[in-house]
Amino acid sequence: MRTKLQISFMLIFKKVADIQAYLSQQKPAGRGIGFVPTMGALHAGHLSLIKLAKADNKLVVTSIFVNPTQFNDKEDFEKYPITTDTDVAMLIEAGCNVLFLPSVDEMYPQGTENMPVFDFGYLETVLEGAHRPGHFRGVGQVVARLLDIVKPDSLYMGQKDYQQCLVVKNLLGQVAGGNDIEMIICPIIREADGLAMSSRNRRLTDPQRAVAGTIYQCLISILSKAPSGNFTVVQKECADLLADKGFVPEYIALADAATLQLLDNYSATTQMVALIAAKLGNVRLIDNMLVEADS
Ligand code: PAJ
Repeated sequence: MRTKLQISFMLIFKKVADIQAYLSQQKPAGRGIGFVPTMGALHAGHLSLIKLAKADNKLVVTSIFVNPTQFNDKEDFEKYPITTDTDVAMLIEAGCNVLFLPSVDEMYPQGTENMPVFDFGYLETVLEGAHRPGHFRGVGQVVARLLDIVKPDSLYMGQKDYQQCLVVKNLLGQVAGGNDIEMIICPIIREADGLAMSSRNRRLTDPQRAVAGTIYQCLISILSKAPSGNFTVVQKECADLLADKGFVPEYIALADAATLQLLDNYSATTQMVALIAAKLGNVRLIDNMLVEADS
């Protein structure tokens, strides 16, 4: 019996000029380049984005860059896991073609102060924006720079970071060529107990990990009371349950899924999203779930 030997490889670029030269020569026609920006410490959630990009595009480019300008919490930045060797192996296995792995100097050669600043208006004042001041400006900065370098046809982002998806959609309207980039929002990949996969989960202790699925249970209970239940009641039940399990909730919110305008109660006509942010020890977890309107 003959076995077929499959050789997979991936190009890794650390310099902007090198990846730009390669991509400008190799740019496939049509729906060519699918781009998946990440901060590494990859898990199955990230890989699902790469698999979707692979199905739709001729060339998949992933970036790994722990962007200092989007961390409002110094400890979160310093403790952000770096697992480059396993990331590279996982990317090759998932069929990624090109990895961009720049340094801070390569990304911000003039320093971060001289980068363009994008204004996301209301979106940067609520929920994550309110709890992580400056975070979305940092995300806007780095994604704009990455898009300018990679010039993708399609951009793959996870619904896990729901507000980030709305911010990046807004960014595409602000940057040159942004309107030509198709943004694909990919489903949230979860652990068996419902915990949304996240690079930060590996910082949870065993006892913390054992209760971390409570956030998902809260989202399910918010969903189950729609559309005729009383959101304020379920919100309070969730806050109590989370506190009981040792979380410090930052917000438990219901919002218009398109605008993130906060809602006091379920709506029968608006597509909604329920969003939770809570800290377990010093690990901050976020999750969300779409709540369908009645009509
Ligand atoms: P990071 O947290 O590494 O996430 C990279 C991408 O993977 C994001 O689009 C995120 O929403 C998605 N993702 C993370 N966990 C997921 C899960 N469980 N299921 C599906 N998708 C998931 O988000 C960032 O990096 C950064 O802010 C970045 C956009 C790269 C800018 O620095």
